[in-house]
Amino acid sequence: MTTPEGPKPVRILFSEDAIRRRVEELARQISSDYAGKGEVLLVGVLKGAFIFLADLCRKMTVPRRVDFIAVSSYGDKTVSSGNVRLVLDLRGDIAGRHVLVVEDIVDTGSTFSYLLELLRLRGPASVKTCAFLRKEKGGPPVDYVGFEIADEWVVGYGLDYADAYRALPHIAVLQVNG
Ligand code: PRP
Repeated sequence: MTTPEGPKPVRILFSEDAIRRRVEELARQISSDYAGKGEVLLVGVLKGAFIFLADLCRKMTVPRRVDFIAVSSYGDKTVSSGNVRLVLDLRGDIAGRHVLVVEDIVDTGSTFSYLLELLRLRGPASVKTCAFLRKEKGGPPVDYVGFEIADEWVVGYGLDYADAYRALPHIAVLQVNG
């Protein structure tokens, strides 16, 4: 593997082990909350959520299915444009279903706001949100959060910088300046 140009990961924030333990806790909590309600449809927001979703859905114990949606607001930049764009829609219908939207990270909350508005128009039985990371700067309420983090750019475990570093098994802070 070649090392990408530009800023580099400089400090591990969450080890592979810490991530695994937190995912297991989230899966337990979510499974207990949805127990007896029928099937949950996990909607992974591409690309960032693909690894978290894969781990989460395998640890859950209630009936579940998976679908994906893709939006983009950052492109190759580290600042959100605030202008969320639907890149790929769900394959299936969500009317009458319990939907849990799964994200790798919530930053400004623009993506979740956009998706909640879009999905609620389709008549689901319920829509809840789950993000592995949330920046502690007063984003929107999220039903399930793995970890609250400072306002730093992080990579790994699905999170990227210009599409690089997604496959790191841990989450690391990226040194954007310097
Ligand atoms: C990232 C992340 C979330 C969104 C969060 O996606 O995966 O979807 O930004 O930011 P917000 O709360 O400010 O809206 P990105 O646009 O970088 O696409 P990617 O998932 O394909 O990396």
